[in-house]
Amino acid sequence: MNTIEIHVELPDGSRHTLEAPEGYRVMEVIRDYGLPIKAECGGACACATCHVRLPQVWAGRVVPARDDEMDKLDEIPGADDSSRLSCQLLTDSSIDGLVVRLEADSIVVAMNDTHPQFQAAS
Ligand code: FES
Repeated sequence: MNTIEIHVELPDGSRHTLEAPEGYRVMEVIRDYGLPIKAECGGACACATCHVRLPQVWAGRVVPARDDEMDKLDEIPGADDSSRLSCQLLTDSSIDGLVVRLEADSIVVAMNDTHPQFQAAS
């Protein structure tokens, strides 16, 4: 089985290099490595919570977005030409070395990070 590498940058500045078999969704690879991607619809192009941004050099090298993906991207405030839904990008040799930045709106926030009940007592 052929594998490729995908480099994922998180909003905290960390960078993760993931090895992925061909034929999977980029979203699935990110999720299966345990990175905190929401991907609430599981890849059905229905939630837009797998939003990533691609560097300019990659934006023209991946398969163009279909109409249903474009419609979902239009619902994301601030989305632009660098935006894609990672569930609509398939791993194949043409994207070996792909760099994506997982956007803050697509990150799972742990309850203990935000809920006052879980804040440390002062
Ligand atoms: S996982 Fe829902 S649109 Fe990609």
